[in-house]
Amino acid sequence: MSVTVEHVSTEIRPLRVAVVIGSTREGRFGPTVADWFVRQATPRDALIVDIVDTGTTELPHVFGAPAPAVAEATEKLAAADAFVIVTPEYNHSYPGSLKNLIDSHHTEWQAKPVGFVSYGGISGGLRAVEHLRSVFAELHAVTVRDSVALPNPWGRFDDAGVLRDDSAETAAAALLDQLIWWGEALRTARAVRPYGK
Ligand SMILES: Cc1cc2nc3c(=O)[nH]c(=O)nc-3n(C[C@H](O)[C@H](O)[C@H](O)COP(=O)(O)O)c2cc1C
Repeated sequence: MSVTVEHVSTEIRPLRVAVVIGSTREGRFGPTVADWFVRQATPRDALIVDIVDTGTTELPHVFGAPAPAVAEATEKLAAADAFVIVTPEYNHSYPGSLKNLIDSHHTEWQAKPVGFVSYGGISGGLRAVEHLRSVFAELHAVTVRDSVALPNPWGRFDDAGVLRDDSAETAAAALLDQLIWWGEALRTARAVRPYGK
């Protein structure tokens, strides 16, 4: 089968990235990590960043029940060209609130890249990320290789939310490079041929 490429816009548009905060716990550390990551991303002209916070999104307790309060999150996920999931590790996996958000959506994730910023104890949340990779494969999303992992992050940020050591900045830059490459490639591909059609 051949695909004829016509009217594909060559205009350079910023890539829309939805940064998802996965934890909802009282006193959670997630927003500190997410704010830091957004500051790594915003100097890049090629990106527009939206925040989807599971801590302020009223996800349904009864799965499948109507949840009008999710509409804003759904809109941001649908508009996104790429995602970054900010997740802690809970019992060697990721929080149920994040699974609820993921499972409450389907086409919104499809044929788009996903990057991860994780934190936790000594593992830095890597076990949560490995679980998420298989979940996103099921949703036809593409996970990027490089991620940011922050082991024991609690004392590592100053009062302004800046990491005292800059080792994670290199990891964030690699993640963003890969996310932008895949985000642009897949946006063009979806425009040429809608995914799954
Ligand atoms: C229920 C629970 C389970 C946890 N399990 C793990 C774990 O398996 N591995 C780990 O490295 N840290 C674990 N932690 C530590 C969390 O990763 C850490 O407290 C992190 O800050 C939680 O994210 P939050 O503050 O955004 O809720 C756990 C924390 C909680 C509350």
